[in-house]
Amino acid sequence: MRTIRVELGPASHDAHVGAGILDRLGELARGAGLKPCRCAIVTDSTVEKLYAAGAVDALRKAGFEPVVISVPPGEASKSLVTLELLYDRMTEAGLDRASAIFALGGGVVGDLAGFAAATYLRGVPLVQVPTTVVAQVDSALGGKTAINHRHAKNLIGAFYQPRLIVADVTTLATLPDREFREGLAEVIKYGAIMDAAMIVDLERDLDAILARRSDLLEQVVARSLIHKAAVVSADEREGGLRKSLNFGHTIGHAIEASAGYGNYFHGEAVAIGMVAAARLSSKYAGFSADEASRLLRLIERAGLPTAMPPGWDSEDFLRALGLDKKRVAGAVEFVLLDRLGHSLTKSLSIDNIVSPLR
Ligand SMILES: NC(=O)c1ccc[n+]([C@@H]2O[C@H](COP(=O)([O-])OP(=O)(O)OC[C@H]3O[C@@H](n4cnc5c(N)ncnc54)[C@H](O)[C@@H]3O)[C@@H](O)[C@H]2O)c1
Ligand SMILES: [Zn+2]
Repeated sequence: MRTIRVELGPASHDAHVGAGILDRLGELARGAGLKPCRCAIVTDSTVEKLYAAGAVDALRKAGFEPVVISVPPGEASKSLVTLELLYDRMTEAGLDRASAIFALGGGVVGDLAGFAAATYLRGVPLVQVPTTVVAQVDSALGGKTAINHRHAKNLIGAFYQPRLIVADVTTLATLPDREFREGLAEVIKYGAIMDAAMIVDLERDLDAILARRSDLLEQVVARSLIHKAAVVSADEREGGLRKSLNFGHTIGHAIEASAGYGNYFHGEAVAIGMVAAARLSSKYAGFSADEASRLLRLIERAGLPTAMPPGWDSEDFLRALGLDKKRVAGAVEFVLLDRLGHSLTKSLSIDNIVSPLR
């Protein structure tokens, strides 16, 4: 097991990463200062079948009295309706101010249960127990919690730090292939923006990672969390440094928004966005063609898409980029690489972005 300290002043906490550590959830929670209490494991029905019993046992062994609250899997559960259902179940279970909430699942459960924990009785202790690559390397750390509104994703939310993160990489063995590969886009992103040596290691280890060798998963998740923790500690509320995490996301988000939900997973759109950003980096930031093609090749080997979708440069897409043809003078803050492992931001106009990608 590796432990990463997330430095956030009074909200500082540990993130444990390891193989089989779900069995130690209760003990690790006690170690983080949580008192045995009535508590809730919030999960989705897919993860419940696989891991809830193990989590319940682990918590009972350490003196906790958990109830399992399960929601349907999928983005639709990040809703006011599901949130209200959680509050119902939490009050029915007699959860009080001392009761911790364990978010066991992917980013959907983490965001939803995190927001419930932030707001129930004005805040109860939260433990993130991520079970997807996306959640382990990204969403569990950083304190962003939210639900969606019909007008916008993540419209209603709060910054709320967990007391602890427990990422058991053996849970990734059951993750469907497409979800697994999607998460690797965020892993590659950390290497691209802040750790050139990580790219070299990924180039060497990718096949074993895709085979889900747990020692390598532990390494990759821990390294990703070290990077996210560094950014978040320096800059909790979305300042300059945190912006570098948007590498590949400007175009990625526009692809997601214009292709319509369901066509691309987030990580797939980000993969395409990173390849596009690498091309723009060569044009505007001196990023070498050789490094750009190494990044492309790694993304390809991870089984992720790299080409802009057909008809991408539509009005819809430009609007989603935050620009439209009537605002040709407008510009977007864009994260570029000047070399592997190092990013910078540049303000690019619509034409700066679109022309080189055509
Ligand atoms: N808070 C943040 O900083 C942040 C960052 C990135 C993403 N997010 C949010 O995260 C969400 C996406 O998260 P996600 O990609 O983890 O999706 P998800 O939570 O929907 O999980 C994907 C699917 O995998 C299943 N699953 C989860 N763990 C499994 C396992 N170990 N074995 C088998 N199946 C498993 C789930 O039931 C679900 O069907 C989005 O809502 C996004 O907005 C938040
Ligand atoms: Zn992302």
